[in-house]
Amino acid sequence: MNEETLNKVIDESKQGEVTILKGNGASNGKKLYIESYGCQMNFSDSEVVASILTETGYETTRDVNEANIVLINTCSIRENAETRVRNRLVEFKGKKAKDPEFVVGILGCMAERLKKSLLEEEKLVDIVAGPDAYRDLPNLIEEVGTGQKAVNVLLSRDETYADITPVRMDKGGVTAFVTITRGCDNMCSFCVVPFTRGRERSRDPQTIVKECRDLFDMGYREVTLLGQNVDSYRWNMTSKGEIKDVSKPTVNFAQLMEMVAKVNPDLRVRFSTSHPKDMTDDFLKVMAKYENVCEYIHLPVQSGNTEVLQRMNRGYSREWYLERIDAINRIVPDCAISTDIISGFCDETEEEHRDTLSLMDEIKYDFAYMFKYSERPKTLAERRFDDNVPEETKKKRLTQIIDKQMEHSLESHQRQIGKIKKVLVEGPSKRSEEYFCGRDGRNSMVVFPKGDFKKGDYIMVKIKECTSATLLGEVV
Ligand code: 5AD
Ligand code: SF4
Repeated sequence: MNEETLNKVIDESKQGEVTILKGNGASNGKKLYIESYGCQMNFSDSEVVASILTETGYETTRDVNEANIVLINTCSIRENAETRVRNRLVEFKGKKAKDPEFVVGILGCMAERLKKSLLEEEKLVDIVAGPDAYRDLPNLIEEVGTGQKAVNVLLSRDETYADITPVRMDKGGVTAFVTITRGCDNMCSFCVVPFTRGRERSRDPQTIVKECRDLFDMGYREVTLLGQNVDSYRWNMTSKGEIKDVSKPTVNFAQLMEMVAKVNPDLRVRFSTSHPKDMTDDFLKVMAKYENVCEYIHLPVQSGNTEVLQRMNRGYSREWYLERIDAINRIVPDCAISTDIISGFCDETEEEHRDTLSLMDEIKYDFAYMFKYSERPKTLAERRFDDNVPEETKKKRLTQIIDKQMEHSLESHQRQIGKIKKVLVEGPSKRSEEYFCGRDGRNSMVVFPKGDFKKGDYIMVKIKECTSATLLGEVV
């Protein structure tokens, strides 16, 4: 789908007003199980879906075996994410054969792309709902009840689910996601997200602040503000920076962060994902000003070579990116930085790959998510370039990137030994009953003897040992 067709699909979505079957929340005796794949945004969306469906009487369950309806929130970002979902759907096929009342639906990014094959050809699902169609789910489920296949994959220009209070899956939890923007307008050439999630739109800041305040009152002590590109958050402004309604204030990401930071000094604030072309010094100054804004930035670079970045349509050069890293180090001292890297993008030469390795050496990321390039249908890269780096080469380059990152992650953790960290207690450690875990501001997982602490406490931990993945310490 090119941008013009994409806009058409979105505009058509305005024509059909969806009537919401608003329930009174009374139980309808049916149990709902939601399984989520992919990014944090998908997990957050599943909580919105749970909220919409519990309003109409469904009860959520963690046990798939007792569910009457299973919804799978899907990811299309790489081919193997789609393969995993398909395998899962095949597993449910057996259950469907035994119980004709059992309903399976797919949500999220695979919806638009695969609706025809999943619904009609393979008959794996009864419902297909795209990321902007969740308010329509009660209707879609009703349609299935009348024997029809139910589909809504229309994208919207303005749906933000701003008024919906997500049902938190981890009752009594301490950390929560809060979505601030949906969709993406960036068109990075490798990325399918602009096609699956549609145009970028920002959520009303007042509803964001209210959600954060309510979470704090419920006992949550950390929120992560989510968007494909949080730095392009803008309220009451066009993408060109023009004011939409002069009688109302405008809000950018730096200002939104300040509003959320002020909710309570004991509410930690994180955010993801930042974009190198849009991250401003003003925002970094807000980070530095508020102790409760965590000193951690996820700033995906994708490649260390300017020509590759150009082919990727990322909107910055290697030099620009390095300058943004300098700005972080200058304005937010001791800030942890993580990244995303893709190996073997179209036409990537050995020399261009070495530029990625040298950039990693220059920056020494604290953490990284690293991927082999996987061509996605309809993207700019699929239409413009050849996916011509051999699989073996992609693998070899990825291994070199991962090996380097393992060293840097270990060094980063070794530098923390001897330091005293403020840690938010999240609960028992996976390793042992005797230990609890929680994160420091830099987003490192810290493990410590459990003592009398409980989830949601802030404690000070002196770091004694580490691996590349975890810090181990004693409470002081
Ligand atoms: N192939 C490999 N990695 C991808 N990503 C996005 N699209 C692709 C693709 N087609 C990675 C990018 C992005 C992260 C969320 O996923 O690094 O930042
Ligand atoms: Fe995809 Fe680029 Fe948007 Fe991120 S910023 S979601 S990589 S198009």
